[in-house]
Amino acid sequence: DSIKVHAPGTVANLVCGFDILGLALNEPCDEMEIKIIEEPKVIIHHNDNYNLPLEPEKNVCGVALLAMMDKLDHKFGFELTVTKHIKPGSGIGSSAASAAGPVVAANKLLGNYFSNEDLVQMAMFGEKLASGVKHADNIAPCIYGGITLIRAIHPLDIISIPAPPMYVTLVHPQIEVKTSDARQILKKQVLLKDAIKQWGNIAGLVAGFIKSDYELIGRSLEDVIIEPVRSILIPGFDDVKAQSKEAGALGGGISGSGPSIFMLSKNEKEARAVEVVMKDIYEKIGIEYYTYVTTIN
Ligand code: HSE
Repeated sequence: DSIKVHAPGTVANLVCGFDILGLALNEPCDEMEIKIIEEPKVIIHHNDNYNLPLEPEKNVCGVALLAMMDKLDHKFGFELTVTKHIKPGSGIGSSAASAAGPVVAANKLLGNYFSNEDLVQMAMFGEKLASGVKHADNIAPCIYGGITLIRAIHPLDIISIPAPPMYVTLVHPQIEVKTSDARQILKKQVLLKDAIKQWGNIAGLVAGFIKSDYELIGRSLEDVIIEPVRSILIPGFDDVKAQSKEAGALGGGISGSGPSIFMLSKNEKEARAVEVVMKDIYEKIGIEYYTYVTTIN
């Protein structure tokens, strides 16, 4: 018996909520098909061209499944076939989808033996292999869906945040920004006045989601700590942000650690207008790009 799941791309941080907020997308998604095998080992097949290592210990999917096998005393194993559509290094949660998809699929075969929180714990081993840090702001929305707040990771405290319907427009300029580098360049200390602005925005954003207050969501999508440092790595960033807002977006910023940029809009018409703006900017700059117009999953 095998089971197939779609592991969605995710947008981490949501501008002001560095390492604590994230949302799941309807597109792009990775496909994972898994079955239980008698031998206590992990076999991985990749149906994609990203040259990802197949040894389970070196593969993000494999590490997450090995963490699950540890919890099951290695009584049996898993055979996994992965088709990735979320490009590694895009900032759209590719490694989180690789880590979360296999354990979610395996858990379905096991009759939901583990809780979602257990699955996040296992998937975080995969995320650590990919980015060097055990952050859960992509993994949690990938597993729970919707918008999630990671209030804490020790111990894990995940809260699903209700939100009004919104469209997400994404552009992935084809440049490389490694999450580890994008974390390395951040300042280790924050000024109190910046911290005050930041927690005002985070609280405003969460309140805006819960109250379905689009205006409040829009004005809370501001980051005075991380974005000024990271945006330097992304050509066209300031133009995309400013012109997307002129085109009707509520706001947005860097998706995860970049290089993708995301914008939230109230309706599809605005989301499509934002896509046109993004395309124009990268055509002019002369960098290859992909765009997506999608909704929250
Ligand atoms: N919160 C993480 C970061 C997400 O911004 O470094 C990385 O995808």
